[in-house]
Amino acid sequence: MASVTSLTASVHQRLADALTAALPDAGSADPLLRRSDRADFQANGILALAKKAGANPRALAAEVVERIVKGDVIEDVEVSGPGFLNITITDRAITENLAARATDPADRLGVAHTDHPGTTVIDYAQPNVAKEMHVGHLRSAVIGDAVVRILEFVGETVVRRHHIGDWGTQFGMLIQYLLEHPHELDHRSGSEDTAVSGEEAMSNLNRIYKAARVLFDSDEEFKTRARRRVVDLQAGEPQTLDLWQRFVDESKIYFYSVFDKLDMEISDPDVVGESGYNDMLEETCRLLEESGVAVRSEGALCVFFDDVKGPDGNPVPLIVRKSDGGYGYAATDLSAIRDRVFGLKADTLLYVVDARQSLHFKMVFETARRAGWLNEDTKAQQLAFGTVLGKDGKPFKTREGETVRLVDLLDEAIDRATAVVREKAGKVGLTEDEILENGRHVGIGAVKYADLSTSAVRDYKFDLDQMVSLNGDTSVYLQYAYARIQSILRKAGDARPVAHPELALAPAERALGLHLDQFGELLMDVAAGYEPHKLTAYLYQLASHLTTFYDQCHVLSDANPPEVVENRLALVDLTARTLHQGMALLGIRTPDRL
Ligand code: ARG
Repeated sequence: MASVTSLTASVHQRLADALTAALPDAGSADPLLRRSDRADFQANGILALAKKAGANPRALAAEVVERIVKGDVIEDVEVSGPGFLNITITDRAITENLAARATDPADRLGVAHTDHPGTTVIDYAQPNVAKEMHVGHLRSAVIGDAVVRILEFVGETVVRRHHIGDWGTQFGMLIQYLLEHPHELDHRSGSEDTAVSGEEAMSNLNRIYKAARVLFDSDEEFKTRARRRVVDLQAGEPQTLDLWQRFVDESKIYFYSVFDKLDMEISDPDVVGESGYNDMLEETCRLLEESGVAVRSEGALCVFFDDVKGPDGNPVPLIVRKSDGGYGYAATDLSAIRDRVFGLKADTLLYVVDARQSLHFKMVFETARRAGWLNEDTKAQQLAFGTVLGKDGKPFKTREGETVRLVDLLDEAIDRATAVVREKAGKVGLTEDEILENGRHVGIGAVKYADLSTSAVRDYKFDLDQMVSLNGDTSVYLQYAYARIQSILRKAGDARPVAHPELALAPAERALGLHLDQFGELLMDVAAGYEPHKLTAYLYQLASHLTTFYDQCHVLSDANPPEVVENRLALVDLTARTLHQGMALLGIRTPDRL
């Protein structure tokens, strides 16, 4: 494997060896190593170990220092305070480490794969057929897409599932309406090149939805026909299914247009909606009933939980089959678990779904555990996300109190971002096309970054002014940091990035280099906990180290000897590639010129 051993790992190993030598009885002792402001690293583990062994911590620390191998990686170790170790790394080791990352033949910047990759099914980006997408669907898509990319990068096998809402009683009304007004979705009988746009598709669906609703609420006979149509749909009556399929297809045109705007690849085989599990529902119920996990209660098939009670103190069951024989959301999710575990052979199931559905998933997972479909080796987890709030701190709504259309929001972000890009475009010499393209990358990047940079469970404020701000923790700040490096590399002319391990480094170079060294370990941590916000924090710190570096060190200065220029080019080049890789894992583009 071509992965690069991090300096942290090397230092850790040396300290652990010295500790074991000094305290042979301690077994594998953890030196508790962290990055530190005082030196490059600090080890705090000796205190606890000394206490356990009944030794004097400072004396033990001194003994450990004696045994640490110095010179190649570790420049210096000092005992400080009650028994901490302050560790300084050699400049040579830093530069050599960065050079190894830069020349990684696998082009992974030296990042390793996880030790035990498995198969993860991730359920995300799940809009509902014949309905507009809103900010909740945005969060699921953005977080899910980032987690997919991160997991795949560290070597996990990932299966994507877009569990779209494509089944339910509302289709009776829609299908019946279309049956009685057959020309309402007729455009596709026209020539191929009159393909509808996503926008048109949604407006068709909206129109039909509203008209059908009006009829349903005002016309008792239509209502009866619509209800009968639900039965036909469930029975798989061909003409009814055909019309249902037209709603699904029309909706997909719209969904794909939104995902395209979001710069996200969603592919057809991964769209397995609620309807995809219809054939399993009956068996799921039978298995649950036979094993006694589910019981009949007032005609319905239910699962009960000791700790789930309603406001009246009575237990609230998970209803797997209603008393009228209909299956709901729970039956579908339980069947999907069986498919994902036994069909797709997943060992991890992730659900990127709104926190307001947490009780549902808690009950579904517990049911699957009782049924033996989930266990120690096969786990399910909801990556619950919080609500998107408006600037006023209340759930995001239009002035009229309606849910905000996702498309409008994205368009506004792109408009704002384009204005920001345009302001600086003259200096960089961008063409109008480039301004528009960068505007899209900056606008969509801003929305994604804002979403990903707070921990998912927390609510967050949707504030476009803040999102496209050039200063602070925003994607555009990182995109400018990247573009600035590209501009330096272009200006460097014949000078190439070449590492020179013999050179002494300035403090800002060391700080930047040591931060770059942590990228691989950070990604392992991000992947293990499904926490993209730790990656945004890392990248923001990286850009901040870069800013300090620019303040203190010139790259292309005539006063620099050529090898200093080359070494600094190597440093900024690796920084740019790390920014690019990190942003790509978040689904955000880094334009070369901005
Ligand atoms: N379509 C649902 C919604 O819009 C989300 C589906 C979540 N996934 C699942 N397996 N239940 O709220």
